[in-house]
Amino acid sequence: MKFDLDSAQRRQLGYQLVDCIDEYFAGLSDRPVQPALEERTFDEKDGELPECGTDASRVLRDLCTELIDRGFHIPSANYLGLMNPTPVYVAILAEMLVAALNPQLASRARSPIPSSLERQTIRWISNRVGCTGESGATFTTGGNEANFTALALALSRHFPTWIKAASASMPSRPALYASSEAHHSLEKCVGLLGLGRESLRRIPVTERIETDPEELERSIRHDRDAGLRPFCVVATAGTTNSGAIDNLGAIAGICKRHNLWFHVDGAYGAAVLFSNQHRSLLNNIELADSITLDPHKWLAMPLAAGVVLTSHPEELLRIFDVETPYLSRANTHGPMDNFRIGAQWSRRMNSLKLWLAFKVHGRQAYEQLINRQIKLAGDFAEWVRNSEEFELAAPQVLPTINLRTKLPGAPEEVVRQANELLLREVTRDGKRWMSSTVVRGISAIRLTIISYLTGERHIEELQAALTRVARQQNAKAAVSSF
Ligand SMILES: Cc1ncc(COP(=O)(O)O)c(C=O)c1O
Repeated sequence: MKFDLDSAQRRQLGYQLVDCIDEYFAGLSDRPVQPALEERTFDEKDGELPECGTDASRVLRDLCTELIDRGFHIPSANYLGLMNPTPVYVAILAEMLVAALNPQLASRARSPIPSSLERQTIRWISNRVGCTGESGATFTTGGNEANFTALALALSRHFPTWIKAASASMPSRPALYASSEAHHSLEKCVGLLGLGRESLRRIPVTERIETDPEELERSIRHDRDAGLRPFCVVATAGTTNSGAIDNLGAIAGICKRHNLWFHVDGAYGAAVLFSNQHRSLLNNIELADSITLDPHKWLAMPLAAGVVLTSHPEELLRIFDVETPYLSRANTHGPMDNFRIGAQWSRRMNSLKLWLAFKVHGRQAYEQLINRQIKLAGDFAEWVRNSEEFELAAPQVLPTINLRTKLPGAPEEVVRQANELLLREVTRDGKRWMSSTVVRGISAIRLTIISYLTGERHIEELQAALTRVARQQNAKAAVSSF
């Protein structure tokens, strides 16, 4: 089959796929997340590279059948796992349009309308932050790249010659700070930035799973006395484990006192910016020097879309601006070319899906989504507090809940085993998915309500399953200790 399909073929294949996706979406409220435990065996694909093609319609049909019938379904309403959502449908359409038009956003000249739509999307986000004064931002592939960019900005701000001369130009070894619960992308970032993973100081958290401000300040003073050069603090707005939000005002104050860059990793929780009702959870985020936000998490975008915002746009230029003979510098007025303010050269339009979702559904749709999910999680936490079988392992703030088996006086290892057993049994039939974790040193079952399809019915079914399995376990334990 040749590449340039005719109109009839394009339509036939396109409609076939749209029909398949439509049927898939129609069943998402009740779709099991994956096959039952006993059926989860997957062979490696070992066929050779096809020399000649096969009928497109058949290949597409077989592919959809296999992916859907035997797949792991993050878009299901019963996926209560890590921070991946059911994608908003119009965002899927935007992805198709982006693939078809294939805009290259490196330069404005070659993408005047896409670049302008992207800047508008960024402006909408910045306005919700409440940035006063100049700000800059760049779309990224996700939170890792956004955090990487933010730490590079922080380094460049404190060590202006670093981007040219690397560590040789640094008067003393840099150090930066984040809580023990901050995301592991930070280790990767500091390693790849050449700082060494030891430069990242992990600060203990309080009972609310927030960075302990006293410990933070003590650590900064200690490092400074030891001849190191503290340059940045990363606060988390919505930790991956528990959805905890650091005390942004306290950390902003510490950064100001010690002249440190204040980065907020809001990959998950900064979505709350779009809820008027809960915006106060992020009070003082506007004081940040940089912010990470991942639309492909709580803003229900398909992978991939991240954003990093900064109140120091000139630093973006300092770290990313390069010369290239095949793009003239003539066009220096107006907004910057994207390749001068971001790590990427070939740059996919990761913003169009969010632009379209905002345009079609409006901010109020996000307000409702966020408020409803926080309420569902609050009710769930209340249910845990009143339960005989479970207790909370961490406070609930966002729609992420850490619960654990209630076994008063039992050693931690016994509770951990009970949690693992419970999780295995509750997810055995494949209907739903949750994960396990360790928070402040204690084991927990972790769930996040992130799909806009998840409602009270799904939560009630989950609670019934948790209770049933926990009671069975307790009964078995009582018999064996008899
Ligand atoms: C708080 C936080 N920061 C950063 C990241 C990394 O984001 P991404 O997976 O988009 O690279 C995550 C991912 O879960 C996260 O929860």
